[in-house]
Amino acid sequence: ARPDALPRDLEGVHVAVSAGGTREPLDPVRYLGNRSSGRQGWALARVAAQRGARVTLVAAHTADLVTPAGVDVRRVGSALELRDAMHAVAATADVVVMAAAVADFRPVDLVEHKIKKTDRDPDPVALTRNPDILAELVAARRPGQVVVGFAAETGDASTSVLEYGRAKLKRKGCDWLVVNAVGDGRAFEVEDNAGWLLSADGAETPIPHGSKARLASAVWDAVAPSVER
Ligand code: CTP
Ligand code: CA
Repeated sequence: ARPDALPRDLEGVHVAVSAGGTREPLDPVRYLGNRSSGRQGWALARVAAQRGARVTLVAAHTADLVTPAGVDVRRVGSALELRDAMHAVAATADVVVMAAAVADFRPVDLVEHKIKKTDRDPDPVALTRNPDILAELVAARRPGQVVVGFAAETGDASTSVLEYGRAKLKRKGCDWLVVNAVGDGRAFEVEDNAGWLLSADGAETPIPHGSKARLASAVWDAVAPSVER
């Protein structure tokens, strides 16, 4: 849709969105990363700004994306940096969206100098769990603040994408969970749906297959009326 055709239903609302994939440092030149492009978080930020929100975008590593007009971008690297940035912005945000692909694990040690190869086999890399930032943001939620999480699920023989989504919504305690069906089973299992938008009050809205901008619009259509102002 043309920006001037969009509703201005996020006027006066401060939205914080995380996007992209975190990079967990191993030494000064190496990291553990993931393939997230950041495009979905970018679309959520861009559409929110077009609908009148003040938007802060906390960006981990992304593809080479153009900063959306009128959006304040803060760059972070690791999950721990993303955590600090999200807690800082969540202190004033009305809506918090965790679209980032946060690494579940990070190397225990950040080696100070570049690891050198020797004649011996390398040591294994010891990993530790990263904090669950979404769960922390839910625990720190201010009255009236709306928290939105994302989940990409494949489903398996015993459990469908939707069932995994429902369980994750409960476990995380967020107000909304955007469940994306991914992987090979997608077409068979979800027909023309790219996923669902699950609400903590039990509402389940199918999201039709479409662009990331369309998905972003569907999310804001549902979330905007629930924002107190
Ligand atoms: N998330 C987070 N902090 C983490 C891991 C995930 O805030 N350490 C957020 C993601 O940004 C997303 C949601 O939690 O909004 C769900 O992420 P997902 O990876 O699907 O869930 P996990 O709890 O990590 O479970 P699993 O990967 O085992 O499915
Ligand atoms: Ca995970």
